Amino acid sequence: MNKIGFIGAGNLAGSIIKGLNQSNSSYKMYLYDIQKDKADSLALKFNANSCSFREVVSNADILILAVKPQDIIQLLQNLSTISLGEKLIITVAAGISLRAYECLLPKTAIVRAMPNTSSAVLKSMTALVRGQYVTEPQMEVADKIFSCLGKVLWVKDTKMNAVTSVSGSGPAYFYLLTELMAKAGIKLGLTEDEANFLARETLIGVGTMLAEDKRTVKELREAVTSPNGTTYAAISIFREEGLENIVSKALEAAAKRALEMEGEYFGGNVKKGSN
Ligand SMILES: NC(=O)c1ccc[n+]([C@@H]2O[C@H](COP(=O)([O-])OP(=O)(O)OC[C@H]3O[C@@H](n4cnc5c(N)ncnc54)[C@H](OP(=O)(O)O)[C@@H]3O)[C@@H](O)[C@H]2O)c1
Repeated sequence: MNKIGFIGAGNLAGSIIKGLNQSNSSYKMYLYDIQKDKADSLALKFNANSCSFREVVSNADILILAVKPQDIIQLLQNLSTISLGEKLIITVAAGISLRAYECLLPKTAIVRAMPNTSSAVLKSMTALVRGQYVTEPQMEVADKIFSCLGKVLWVKDTKMNAVTSVSGSGPAYFYLLTELMAKAGIKLGLTEDEANFLARETLIGVGTMLAEDKRTVKELREAVTSPNGTTYAAISIFREEGLENIVSKALEAAAKRALEMEGEYFGGNVKKGSN
């Protein structure tokens, strides 16, 4: 299993190909995009092959469906007319359950992946779900592919809406907090450039600490929160104003939206209880 076909050659496909390239893996890659110039330019950059839809499907052992969720149904309908045999299908579209794929591509090995946008810098947190026809060697291949993009966690499909709300949408929450910290810094007398620089570099430092320090997040926070100090004063306000409740409600909303999206994209195409 060393031939990967990409259907959709946009941002995420580009990140995966970049990650695979950096890991010196020996995969042969085939790309198809309805915007042919996208597939051509990625193929040129990474020594891959830009081909037709049929060629990608017939050449690849592993097919990565890297199109937007709203384009998935049409793509699956096209794929369902082709014999996929032993191929492994990996899908990255948000908000569509494994059951939905297995309904449209019966008896096919399907892995559902939920990376996040830090895939662009090969720091994605990716959750993977194993479909019922996926073999152990196919699982290992999927794991290896997404490990080139960052970290991997295998979960049950029923947890994917929670995963979406934590790590899928997660990068945006940290961007928002960074923006709000910079805005508050400006109110305290910093220039916009100073405040942005301070907030942004603080987040980068925190990410690196979390990656390199073995202590838990709580231990790291407590270590920098001396009683009655400046950090303590700020954290007391976060608590008093109900930050915990806000975060909890926000993540519940994201999970609920992920659930709704499946109905929107698939409508009546999924039989209930088919997985
Ligand atoms: N970017 C990330 O870091 C990230 C993270 C997590 C999950 N994802 C998921 O990854 C998927 C792709 O995201 P992306 O950011 O890479 O999107 P993108 O940059 O828009 O790339 C998708 C490409 O696929 C093309 N396309 C649409 N329908 C097609 C079809 N039937 N056959 C072949 N190509 C087709 C699109 O063309 P048009 O633009 O003309 O439609 C576009 O060029 C999405 O489902 C998203 O939810 C992405």
